[in-house]
Amino acid sequence: MSESKNFSPNDGLAREDLARRDLDHEAAPADTTPTDATHGAHDGSDGSQGSQGSDSSHAEREPRPMARMFPPGAGPSPDPAGSHHERRIRSFQPRRSRVTKGQRTALEQLWPRWGFDVDGMRQLDLGKLFGDPDLPIVLEIGFGMGEATTEMAAADPATGILAVDVHTPGQGNLLRLADEQGLDNVRVGNGDAIILLREMLAQDSLSGLRIYFPDPWPKARHHKRRLVQPEFLDLAAGPLRPGALVHCATDWEEYAEQMLDVLSAHPEYENTRPDGGYAPRPAHRPLTRFEGQGLTKGHAVRDLVFRRR
Ligand SMILES: C[S@@+](CC[C@H](N)C(=O)[O-])C[C@H]1O[C@@H](n2cnc3c(N)ncnc32)[C@H](O)[C@@H]1O
Repeated sequence: MSESKNFSPNDGLAREDLARRDLDHEAAPADTTPTDATHGAHDGSDGSQGSQGSDSSHAEREPRPMARMFPPGAGPSPDPAGSHHERRIRSFQPRRSRVTKGQRTALEQLWPRWGFDVDGMRQLDLGKLFGDPDLPIVLEIGFGMGEATTEMAAADPATGILAVDVHTPGQGNLLRLADEQGLDNVRVGNGDAIILLREMLAQDSLSGLRIYFPDPWPKARHHKRRLVQPEFLDLAAGPLRPGALVHCATDWEEYAEQMLDVLSAHPEYENTRPDGGYAPRPAHRPLTRFEGQGLTKGHAVRDLVFRRR
């Protein structure tokens, strides 16, 4: 599936030690870490980051790694990139979420075939990963519970979906859904998309990028944690091949404005809209779980479709 890059034979051991140490340091019970990533439209009933966001300092703390759920290689690792990549946008808050029996079974059975850790230690050979060197690959960052991802993959089997998220129950759910629907064009990455883009994807290897309802980090002091910002766009420009479409959607007005500003200002991207504004919702984007929650709250949804120059 992949070739080694900057790999040291001691890394596996070091990360194992780290995982054991993390286990020793476990203190808080599951599902108790609040976060300021979201704006309350998302209630967290799926184990996601819903919170009214008390003005605590949780989001500023170093993430507390989670306990290992599976033996090495048999499922997603709790902290695949370890601590060797410190300087980056922190767009997510690690959270402990209960994995259902179905999600666990899917992870146990399908992870070795369709899953990979975003460990930042090797470059992915996407042709091998998808079993087809000619398949165009679209990266989806932050698929949540994976329903929309599955729908889009089923509607377009001639495109491979490289789906990445840090959320273990969502990874299990997406694997389960893909298996139930007999899909062979979804692969699931566990970890930070920043590391995936920066360390593991070759130049011009992606035909598209989808970011649907990224955590809006509504408080001003957390805006630096928003994913879509110039530094991120610089990184994404490497793996995105010329002509690749970048499709973002959000129900958070001020984040939509930020996306429009930074994408419009970036020399490597151009708006597909001649008027330089938001795009009509493309028919191929299904309603997502977070979108539904935002709509229930009366939020307007905005799509942006840009092209890599
Ligand atoms: C608000 S949820 C949206 C989920 C889904 N797209 C939807 O619309 O229902 C944002 C998701 O992005 C994931 N996420 C945030 N930052 C990420 C990163 N740097 N790498 C991978 N996933 C990330 C979170 O774990 C979460 O599942």
